[in-house]
Amino acid sequence: MPESADIAHSEKLKQRLRFYEDLGLAPFYRDRGRLRLSQSPSPASSPGRPSLSIEETPLPKSALQTPAVASPAARAKAFLPLTPLPPSLFEAAYKNQSETLLQIRDDLGECTRCKLHTTRNKIVFGDGSPRAQLVFVGEGPGADEDAQGLPFVGRAGKLLTQMIEAMGLERRDVYICNVVKCRPPGNRQPEGDEVEACSPFLFRQLDSLKPKVIVCLGATAFQTLLQSNRSISHFRGQWLDFRGYKMLPTYHPAYLLRNPAAKADVWKDLQKVMAELGLEVKKTKAK
Ligand code: URA
Repeated sequence: MPESADIAHSEKLKQRLRFYEDLGLAPFYRDRGRLRLSQSPSPASSPGRPSLSIEETPLPKSALQTPAVASPAARAKAFLPLTPLPPSLFEAAYKNQSETLLQIRDDLGECTRCKLHTTRNKIVFGDGSPRAQLVFVGEGPGADEDAQGLPFVGRAGKLLTQMIEAMGLERRDVYICNVVKCRPPGNRQPEGDEVEACSPFLFRQLDSLKPKVIVCLGATAFQTLLQSNRSISHFRGQWLDFRGYKMLPTYHPAYLLRNPAAKADVWKDLQKVMAELGLEVKKTKAK
């Protein structure tokens, strides 16, 4: 009789396969090197590990190395011409370019800088590797995130996790954060004053991480980084420059839950990111 952990694990695998099939990825998935289904524990697996497991092969070194700090010349080189950001936003945010995420979290403290603090349960600062080459930026915490203090742990978060895993990565390989760190009541969009109060912390997080690629999930993230009110559909899937970092906007996972057909577009975007990070990209035909 299989143990409940086995059942839960195999259900997770089934969900993941369904997700790949949604993307038209069945052939890609079947012969992918990094993700292999095995019926018995791998030699490295711990005794408690379920017998139906995903074996992991190490990430390419390039995916784990700390990226070099972008030089001023590289920073100045834009991938697309963009309106320069107002200096006031950045003077404070970029005072100290070598601060750690912990220092930034410390500075945020039990924040009361905007009205969102009055309704929040937990501050959702961010989660993942401080050495991540890839950062996902969402809009703001929802109910699950507010309860747990972690970004993207609800339904949209599960989809984001599947997307990360489809790239051959795990959540702990990347960094995930939001434009605002406290939940807007009723999951409304964050308001201008809230974004203004909170976004300097996002900019500082990005400058501490110095990622090779930033993926903006949805319009709020993209509009905040680019100080633009253009619709995301103008820029989705295009490489843009955010202060010398390569940035690519794509649809928010919550949008994909409502419009599953858009998953194929997002997968194309993520393949661009994989190529940029030196991760194996197999040509697949999207459905
Ligand atoms: N949506 C977001 O934008 N961020 C989260 O953390 C969760 C849902």
